[in-house]
Amino acid sequence: MKILAIESSCDETAAAVIADGTKILSNVVASSHDMHETYGGIVPEVAARAQAEYIIPVISEALKPLQKPSCSSLYQSIMDEIDALAVSVGPGLIGSLLVGVETAKTIALVTDKPLIPVNHVLAHMYANFIQSHQSSVVSHQPKTTIGLTADDRKLITFPAISLVVSGGHTELYLMKNLKELTWLGGTLDDAAGECFDKTARLLGFGNGGGLAIQQAATQFNIRYSALDIHLPRPMLDKDNQLNFSFSGLKTAIVRAVNKLKEQKQFNDNAIHHLAYEVQETITDILVKKTLLAADRYKAASILLSGGVSANLRLRKKFTSKLQAIASHLSFHVPPVSLCTDNAAYIASYAYFHGTKTNWRHVTAVPDLSVEIRQQSLQEASVR
Ligand code: KG4
Ligand code: ZN
Repeated sequence: MKILAIESSCDETAAAVIADGTKILSNVVASSHDMHETYGGIVPEVAARAQAEYIIPVISEALKPLQKPSCSSLYQSIMDEIDALAVSVGPGLIGSLLVGVETAKTIALVTDKPLIPVNHVLAHMYANFIQSHQSSVVSHQPKTTIGLTADDRKLITFPAISLVVSGGHTELYLMKNLKELTWLGGTLDDAAGECFDKTARLLGFGNGGGLAIQQAATQFNIRYSALDIHLPRPMLDKDNQLNFSFSGLKTAIVRAVNKLKEQKQFNDNAIHHLAYEVQETITDILVKKTLLAADRYKAASILLSGGVSANLRLRKKFTSKLQAIASHLSFHVPPVSLCTDNAAYIASYAYFHGTKTNWRHVTAVPDLSVEIRQQSLQEASVR
């Protein structure tokens, strides 16, 4: 079954065609990220206008590998090759979402293909089930696998604890199987990605975000820094909770930067030191809470996803910690290209989890809830 998925929730415009929820046939992403550089953050109007400009070229590009030489129209490619459409309906920026949603609805109307609305945040975790990387063979029930057969892939067994950590969300889920999700906790204020992004701006990296912090942190060498920088690790003392809080950390970073500026010590060395400390603090919190959830729910696997899961220090910390405690848990994280926003995981979620919906009932929902108490799927889904 081939799904054409569309993602336009923020500043990325993406389309992908995925076979059977796991195999990438095409995956195209355009971004307006650089256009926002001078504004100190994403400008919704600018993002929406870029979505409108990119959406058709991106979908055309995603359909190219499926196009027969004899067939020139997008319409005919979709008619011949695509079984269903999927679109990210929220959460996200309303102007951006509307572009993807209305485009998907129009395609559904003219082609009469089924349309599957997708929750962007929940979908992130399905990047772990996509085949083009080393991470995953899916064990649905003990000893059965879905689709993936390569021996060198690690088996994802359930129950799994899934941490989705992106620019706007830091959420923990219990995944009993591919279709049953329960929300366990999330951030009470800011997301981890937001904290990375704010720090990047404070340290002079503009909209470079977590990637800029990761790169600056590698420059830090304790031997050359006489600075005493220690940041609070919020919520770690409240050991029994599966919630996060990053606003206090953001404030502490602002204070630390101001103090260094006052003392005329805000130089490259201080910037690298701060980047290192921020990354250590955020990754410590994410690892500790995720392992706490895994222990509490007797998980067999840990899954990471979302833009922040591209962070190399976070990946390393999980692996080292699990080794150090000789844990039985298997650890899975998508390749970096599937961590940040794309439409491949939108299609994967739609295949495993989505429900075909009449296009007339599909709408953009900017504040779509991610706090799923329990979601069981009817067999009436896409297969
Ligand atoms: O999932 P995503 O692409 O978009 C949202 O759905 O929000 O996540 C974007 C977030 C940004 O906060 C960005 O700074 C962060 O992911 N990010 C990283 C890295 N790459 C992207 N954070 C830490 N380290 C990275 N290497
Ligand atoms: Zn995202």
